[in-house]
Amino acid sequence: MSDTTAPYGASAATPTPRKPVSLPRLNDMRSRGEKITMLTAYDATFAAVADAAGVECILVGDSLGMVCQGLSSTVGVTLDTMRYHVDSVARGLRRAQGTAWIIGDLPFGSYQESREQALRSATVLMQAGAHMVKLEGGGWTTETVRFLVERGIPVCAHLGLTPQTVHALGGYRVQGRGDAGAAQLRQEALALQDAGAAMLVLEMVPEPLSTALTQDMPRCHTIGIGAGNGTAGQVLVMHDMLGVNLGKNPKFVRNFMQGQGSVHAAISAYVAAVKDGSFPDNALHAWS
Ligand code: KIV
Repeated sequence: MSDTTAPYGASAATPTPRKPVSLPRLNDMRSRGEKITMLTAYDATFAAVADAAGVECILVGDSLGMVCQGLSSTVGVTLDTMRYHVDSVARGLRRAQGTAWIIGDLPFGSYQESREQALRSATVLMQAGAHMVKLEGGGWTTETVRFLVERGIPVCAHLGLTPQTVHALGGYRVQGRGDAGAAQLRQEALALQDAGAAMLVLEMVPEPLSTALTQDMPRCHTIGIGAGNGTAGQVLVMHDMLGVNLGKNPKFVRNFMQGQGSVHAAISAYVAAVKDGSFPDNALHAWS
């Protein structure tokens, strides 16, 4: 590998200085109506490529358990593994002078025991280079989110399909269906916003619900995955949108590699499609 700061597929010729992504900048984007782009990355090189292609938020997701480790779910991912990957991503971005906002996923078992356990685990990921941590679930997590936010740790919550509890949910299926399901998800989301969550991933949630929540949550940016087009931003698992995952792609995923000559071009196409609202489209919804 050559020692260049320009990631594969990006031009090194005219580097344009960019400002680091921050919460105020994401707030500005939201108030201008500009969609926020998020993509997973688990290593230095792909993080640098995603950053150079214009992705604002890089999620070091515990999906790395399936993507990198070959596990059948995210349940087996450990805090030490997350620390390793957050550290790699942060180092890659520093080396490439990247500007993306790094979100580190708190893995299963690293925050459920107590708020203090959550603080210790979040500290590990923040010290490895994360700017924000993500945790799954609503209800009992609200006080954990408040505890972390009060101690200076930005938090992204995650509702809808929460893969760490796939066994309790009975599979990877749409959540928040029906009046009762929608009302519960809505109540949990508003409570998380009140607790100080700055972002909320909504995974496999009906579009009318995620759109309504986005309108009702000005202080917490909704990031959809299989949740339609009405959210403040979108996230995908990088390997899914490059068409290189080990299993079947979820039906809401578009293969952005098609027609592109490089990973950089594919990710740029994803960024452009999220920004202009052409991704996701109705043919890709997950909730029917
Ligand atoms: O771990 C992950 O990649 C995630 C996304 C699917 C949102 O949580």
